Amino acid sequence: MLLAPRLYLLFHLLYQCQYAIQNRALLCSNSRTHFHFPMTIQFHFITGHVIGIDVSCSQLQGTIHSNSSLFSLQHLQRLNLSYNDFSGSKLSPKFGWFVNMTHLNLTTCNFTGEVPYEISYLSKLVSLDLSRNGNMKLEDSSLQRLIRNQTKLSELFFTQVDMSLVSPNSFMNLSSSLTSLCLYDCQLKGRFPYNIFHLPNLHFLDLRYNHNLTGSIPKYNWSSPLKSKKMAVEELDRRISGCQE
Ligand SMILES: *[C@@H]1O[C@H](CO)[C@@H](O)[C@H](O)[C@H]1NC(C)=O
Ligand SMILES: *[C@@H]1O[C@H](CO)[C@@H](O)[C@H](O)[C@H]1NC(C)=O
Ligand SMILES: *[C@@H]1O[C@H](CO)[C@@H](O)[C@H](O)[C@H]1NC(C)=O
Ligand SMILES: *[C@@H]1O[C@H](CO)[C@@H](O)[C@H](O)[C@H]1NC(C)=O
Ligand SMILES: *[C@@H]1O[C@H](CO)[C@@H](O)[C@H](O)[C@H]1NC(C)=O
Ligand SMILES: *[C@@H]1O[C@H](CO)[C@@H](O)[C@H](O)[C@H]1NC(C)=O
Ligand SMILES: *[C@@H]1O[C@H](CO)[C@@H](O)[C@H](O)[C@H]1NC(C)=O
Ligand SMILES: *[C@@H]1O[C@H](CO)[C@@H](O)[C@H](O)[C@H]1NC(C)=O
Ligand SMILES: *[C@@H]1O[C@H](CO)[C@@H](O)[C@H](O)[C@H]1NC(C)=O
Repeated sequence: MLLAPRLYLLFHLLYQCQYAIQNRALLCSNSRTHFHFPMTIQFHFITGHVIGIDVSCSQLQGTIHSNSSLFSLQHLQRLNLSYNDFSGSKLSPKFGWFVNMTHLNLTTCNFTGEVPYEISYLSKLVSLDLSRNGNMKLEDSSLQRLIRNQTKLSELFFTQVDMSLVSPNSFMNLSSSLTSLCLYDCQLKGRFPYNIFHLPNLHFLDLRYNHNLTGSIPKYNWSSPLKSKKMAVEELDRRISGCQE
């Protein structure tokens, strides 16, 4: 397990790397000796900015405070911190301040608490994965803001995010670019909006384990290539079988 000071060091080192590259100085030759885990870092080939970090499954442990050097890497477009242990800490609002972020993957990170509404500032998101964190909770207003601010959104993975306060109607105006929506075990209740099924590019939808979710599934004229329809909505289908609109 990597201890907290080294987590701090990791992002700090990357920040220094960026500086070094931009100044055409020596590359960060120390990074290999400091960190023995799989890590993919992408630098912009002209500006030298760090634009991608993938440290998934790296046994990182510690807390990402708001003063972390991670948030100085303002040009990040892809960030994958999945399968590490951030000690049940809260997600910093600063995660919403990466103006060009397209892919954010925070699955299985041991983050808890409310997802900050600042996440909705990420207006260029293509893929967002917040699955399987301890007790992570998403408020209705944050979700609505998030959805309203997106035009390129393709994948939303919210497995086991607590959405007990979310109205299913908040999913009504999802971007037509949406291809995958996973709401497995999100404590959703109420009636799921029918128009989801008409999103033109949706091919994966998982609504299982939301025991008080109802709705109806169109039997005809699927406008979307919903390949995994049967698997994804089987439970909903069983409970409301026969329903048609
Ligand atoms: C960052 O913030 C944390 C918590 O507020 C604090 O304990 C830590 O000393 C700060 N680190 C730096 C480098 O300022
Ligand atoms: C964000 O992307 C735009 C367009 O590619 C670019 O002009 C801008 O410098 C980028 N900003 C950051 C902070 O990376
Ligand atoms: C997030 O990263 C994990 C690997 O750590 C991967 O399995 C998962 O598919 C990624 N999520 C998305 C939406 O790409
Ligand atoms: C999450 O963090 C808490 C607090 O540090 C810790 O007790 C718990 O074991 C962690 N859970 C996982 C699954 O890593
Ligand atoms: C990390 O997440 C991104 C999506 O955000 C995904 O494309 C990538 O494959 C993931 N990395 C690994 C090692 O699975
Ligand atoms: C949409 O994102 C921009 C920044 O990209 C932010 O200024 C604005 O407040 C966001 N809108 C909502 C409704 O969250
Ligand atoms: C969805 O869009 C319609 C029409 O623009 C609007 O009346 C409604 O309030 C929106 N709903 C949500 C939850 O954003
Ligand atoms: C579903 O609704 C019933 C009746 O309102 C309630 O008793 C039950 O606890 C709810 N189940 C879940 C998993 O929210
Ligand atoms: C399906 O669409 C076709 C052509 O758009 C239409 O003629 C038909 O009535 C529709 N069927 C149902 C059940 O809505």
